[in-house]
Amino acid sequence: MSQTVRGVIARSLKSPVELVDIIVPDPGPGEAVVKVQACGVCHTDLHYREGGINNEFPFLLGHEAAGIVESVGEGVTEVAPGDFVILNWRAVCGQCRSCRRGRPQYCFNTHNATQKMTLIDGTELSPALGIGAFADKTLVAAGQCTKVDHAAPAPVAGLLGCGVMAGIGAAINTGGVGRGDSIAVIGCGGVGAAAIAGSRLAGAAKIIAIDIDDRKLATAREFGATHTINSRGLGQDEVVEAIQAVTDGFGADVVVDAVGRPETYKQAFYGRDLAGTVVLVGVPTPDLTLELPLIDVFGRGGSLKSSWYGDCLPSRDFPMLIDLFLQGRFPLDRFVTETIGIEDIEDAFDKMHSGDVLRSVVVL
Ligand SMILES: NC(=O)c1ccc[n+]([C@@H]2O[C@H](COP(=O)([O-])OP(=O)(O)OC[C@H]3O[C@@H](n4cnc5c(N)ncnc54)[C@H](O)[C@@H]3O)[C@@H](O)[C@H]2O)c1
Ligand SMILES: [Zn+2]
Ligand SMILES: [Zn+2]
Repeated sequence: MSQTVRGVIARSLKSPVELVDIIVPDPGPGEAVVKVQACGVCHTDLHYREGGINNEFPFLLGHEAAGIVESVGEGVTEVAPGDFVILNWRAVCGQCRSCRRGRPQYCFNTHNATQKMTLIDGTELSPALGIGAFADKTLVAAGQCTKVDHAAPAPVAGLLGCGVMAGIGAAINTGGVGRGDSIAVIGCGGVGAAAIAGSRLAGAAKIIAIDIDDRKLATAREFGATHTINSRGLGQDEVVEAIQAVTDGFGADVVVDAVGRPETYKQAFYGRDLAGTVVLVGVPTPDLTLELPLIDVFGRGGSLKSSWYGDCLPSRDFPMLIDLFLQGRFPLDRFVTETIGIEDIEDAFDKMHSGDVLRSVVVL
């Protein structure tokens, strides 16, 4: 059995997204079908559409979602129909070499649904990040459903499913930001703003927001930035000097690159203090390369890290952050700039490009 619902696909390289009918199979063993209630528009969806992730078109886009479990397949015990869940793209396997060594946050074999959702003509879809939630319903591995308090509105909760979690985790899990630390965040869209909010939550003393758009810097202040730098037109040295100027001349303990370009990475690399940490959370496109003097890599010490999904563990982090939100201690709702319809995703990409929004969230 299966059902036909609406879904938003990127059919081929750089063509506009299309709203089409898709076929969602009934859940098999270990799978769940989720009725999607809301799904945020993330920059990674645009990366998919532009061929920046891989070439497995057609993609079923959307991956920052919350909804209600509709049905589960054989052997599923962790969730049941009616549960309010956030979808995650880290359903840990428990068995790979990373899980076995107690590092499930790096799991190298995360679970997705085994069956494929398809177009009406049978063409198999590649769901973005194994989720595909710009759709009325989606088929996922049951482990991709993380149950949270249903008091949180779906458009708000869903954002934890990707960008906001990636940003918070980049700062506090990967970067290890804690009380009294200084942090600079380059790129203050949804991901960067979340890194700022996470740093405030963790007790960072100085939080420096860097962006080329003053509107993003204004929001960054609302999320907890103590200093802002508009880097439009500035060279690398000027950005680095501006960071040093507010960190006693030394640089920040942690610098998060939430853009993912060679120039922002170098700003991060030189903008941190000696023995500091660079965290790359922005996703570079495959054409980009980085050149650095090896002596500087050695001489500046510290660590250069990438942050996959904020090194989060959904089962640990989603319920905790939802609870903090419901207690008024974490402003998750402020990431939602607007709610839109499922037919408005191209407009949302345009608004993302022009910097008008932190997050547009599709409500279904
Ligand atoms: N690592 C992960 O697990 C993960 C998860 C989600 C998203 N991402 C990636 O994070 C990045 C940011 O995503 P987003 O949704 O916040 O995007 P976004 O488009 O909302 O924000 C990007 C921000 O960067 C700013 N910017 C662009 N060029 C800049 C520059 N040269 N210097 C300073 N600021 C600059 C823009 O003005 C904008 O505010 C994307 O690459 C996305 O794919 C990574
Ligand atoms: Zn694993
Ligand atoms: Zn995302």
